[in-house]
Amino acid sequence: MSKQFDVVVIGGGPGGYIAAIRAAQLGLSTACIEAESYADPKGQVRLGGTCLNVGCIPSKALLQSSELFEQANHSFVMHGISTGKVAMDVATMVKRKDNIVEQLTSGIKGLFKKNKVTLLPGHGKFVGLENERWRVDVNGEVVEATHVVVATGSQARHLPGIPVDNKVICDNVGALSFDSVPKRLGVIGAGVIGLELGSVWKRLGAEVTILEAVPDFLAAADAAVAKEAWKTFTQKQGLNIQLGVKITAVEHGKKGVRISYESGDESKVLECDRLIVSVGRMPNSDNFGAAEVGLAINESGFVVVDAHCRTNLPNVWAVGDVVPGPMLAHKGMEEGIMVAECIAGQKGHVNYAAIPWVIYTHPEIAWVGKTEQQLKNEGVEYRAGQIPFLANGRALGQGDTTGFIKMLACAKTDRILGVHIIGNNASELIAEAVTAMEFSASAEDIARICHAHPTLSETMHEAALAVDKRPLHF
Ligand code: FAD
Ligand code: NAI
Repeated sequence: MSKQFDVVVIGGGPGGYIAAIRAAQLGLSTACIEAESYADPKGQVRLGGTCLNVGCIPSKALLQSSELFEQANHSFVMHGISTGKVAMDVATMVKRKDNIVEQLTSGIKGLFKKNKVTLLPGHGKFVGLENERWRVDVNGEVVEATHVVVATGSQARHLPGIPVDNKVICDNVGALSFDSVPKRLGVIGAGVIGLELGSVWKRLGAEVTILEAVPDFLAAADAAVAKEAWKTFTQKQGLNIQLGVKITAVEHGKKGVRISYESGDESKVLECDRLIVSVGRMPNSDNFGAAEVGLAINESGFVVVDAHCRTNLPNVWAVGDVVPGPMLAHKGMEEGIMVAECIAGQKGHVNYAAIPWVIYTHPEIAWVGKTEQQLKNEGVEYRAGQIPFLANGRALGQGDTTGFIKMLACAKTDRILGVHIIGNNASELIAEAVTAMEFSASAEDIARICHAHPTLSETMHEAALAVDKRPLHF
């Protein structure tokens, strides 16, 4: 007889492993199928998906190492610290990153054991529905489940005519494991990966040129943040970012990569030693038998779901990068929790209006809620308070005063509609704004909260005061 479960999750990334753990916590017999996509050197399946293996975690490890290198080279001196010549051993940096990945991915296996989630290594594929139970094939063995959660994630989008070998021409997989600092690095796409990984290799000494198709820089961010980021990245940090270009050919020869592109009326050529292609990601919706069971997929390849991540099929749910919405690990995790709670008969919920975005460049960029442009386009009357970190004692002490916090609040109700940060530790500071928005707080609520002194969070306090035109330190 086939193995029987209440819930089978296909995919062990953040959406899937969290759905599985939460379902098991709620007393449901749960299995998680994970393919060999990110197997360790011994061929053992690794959990954690893109995020832990070739995404969030490894990229942040490299960002940290390269930031320390940058500081040792350029910032220590202002504190009176002289280091002499600072050297970077890329192999050690990459090994450290690999160790963190190993620690976290094996940690999830431990969490599965602790919570009694059965790990089924192999490729999951729908077989069909029999007696109201879904049959799913895992490498030739069929398991049965009342509920199936699809959490198959996404993969890097590649461009026609640009063959990715993950040695010289790389997507996120190869770009996180370079064995040396390329002298000249080309990047196609000035999105989140292009900026984060471009920053890593720039700090380590590469000459970095980023070619972006769209004429606007960081179009999804608040325009004031995007403007400040542009100034800092291009003028202070020397990232060469070219906007509004059209790639016409990419040739990979013995001497590296030659990219031909059009910029305005001009035809240009960029020669580089390595190339990162970071032009977005595609959902993995065609590898688990969706068509065979009639699972609805939209024209962009995403699994169609309602606000509770229910698909068109009974008791089939989908979460994370494979469904529409921002491709962010924490969004997928929230959906995983919601689905597990709904399956268990609880009232699961995700507040899509309060999902934070973070770009881990230096300065960091973080936001939640609406941008000023969006509010204008929607005709919403708002008040804005913006305070630079230059006016913050902690930022001065840290020697890092770039950026600001901008708060947008409804002109009528004072309810916070959006918070936009560019600056040191924006990734941590945004949590206060997310909490505030989750609880429908007003700018005045933040203005009346005692913020520890001296901290960067005082800038949030001041931004809230500035909404009412009464900042105290600016
Ligand atoms: P995935 O993590 O892609 O996991 C899906 C899993 O399903 C994979 O392990 C895959 O092997 C498995 N699978 C697929 N098909 C099958 C099948 N048929 N059978 C069995 N298993 C299958 N997000 C953030 O929030 N913060 C960040 O800082 C961040 N940094 C990133 C940096 C990079 C370089 C990249 C590429 C992404 C980053 N992301 C970040 C995005 C984040 O990694 C994804 O949003 C997140 O991993 C999506 O989780 P998921 O569970 O939906 O899918
Ligand atoms: P992205 O969507 O952030 O950026 C892709 C960029 O490539 C866009 O600016 C787009 O205009 C450009 N582009 C597309 N086609 C092009 C072409 N032919 N030529 C030149 N430019 C082109 O995608 P990216 O950077 O690949 O990252 C994928 C996703 O991974 C992100 O959208 C995000 O969801 C997730 N991610 C999240 C991170 C975080 O939360 N800090 C970090 C890294 C990735």
